[in-house]
Amino acid sequence: MAQIINGKVIATKIREGLADEVESFIKETGVSPKLSVVLVGDDPASHVYVRSKENACQKAGMIGETHRLSANIKQNELNELVRRLNKDRSVHGILVQLPLPKHLDPIAALNEISPEKDVDGLHPLNMGKLLRGDDPLFIPCTAHGIMELILSTGVEIKGKEAVVVGRSNIVGKPVALLLLQQHATVTICHSRTKDLGEVVKRADILVASVGSPGIIHGNMVKNGAIVIDVGVNRVGDKLQGDVDFDSAKDKAAYITPVPGGVGPMTIAMLLKNTLIAAKNAQK
Ligand code: GUN
Repeated sequence: MAQIINGKVIATKIREGLADEVESFIKETGVSPKLSVVLVGDDPASHVYVRSKENACQKAGMIGETHRLSANIKQNELNELVRRLNKDRSVHGILVQLPLPKHLDPIAALNEISPEKDVDGLHPLNMGKLLRGDDPLFIPCTAHGIMELILSTGVEIKGKEAVVVGRSNIVGKPVALLLLQQHATVTICHSRTKDLGEVVKRADILVASVGSPGIIHGNMVKNGAIVIDVGVNRVGDKLQGDVDFDSAKDKAAYITPVPGGVGPMTIAMLLKNTLIAAKNAQK
């Protein structure tokens, strides 16, 4: 039976540390770190995520504001809002919540965010620096959170076989680059991968981020693996990961649950990035 990696506990510890740091920062500078989230349309899951980002900011002593825009806003109106937030000196971090409605181009919106305020780490300058191994200002929050969870096991990453299932810009690509930076041998799988099971079986470190409930069964998991499940799939009235937890837990050495694994870490890393952005803005 695997050891459960409790993301909630780890994230809470990080958030408590951040709240202390925020308090001293405000005392020293008189400035409150502020995150501006841009939320377009009515996606119910996005509304829930954004509310929890606002609450988390408040709990950490930061300001979290959300700009809620109608689903039929035009691209230039969205870009114009981002540019206005770039210029606003009271705003330290900007996050455009994804996915956007279909008629809007997420890349075009992300390109507008000032790299210094890009707490999501999705601007091409920050992603490009991540690719080059050249100290990006910010790393995408979920990928960063996943690395913290892997580090929490104390298992050395260097030389291990890491398999990332999913190639999104938010999770799959950045986490693969971070694992590579830590000297893992990295394979990225996706929907066109032939014989996914055979590739996944090689993984000492497995990151599943495809959005397909239970696609990774225990019979695909190597004995003693670290299994990180990024999937958040609504199945009936329950959340289910991309990993079939019950069968995988008997093979893995460490495994994250859904919910309570990766999810809480994303917000903790977002808060961390917002404080860094606020500190950088005072230099
Ligand atoms: N939607 C789901 N996760 C994320 C994230 O980390 N950043 C943004 N911008 N949108 C998301």
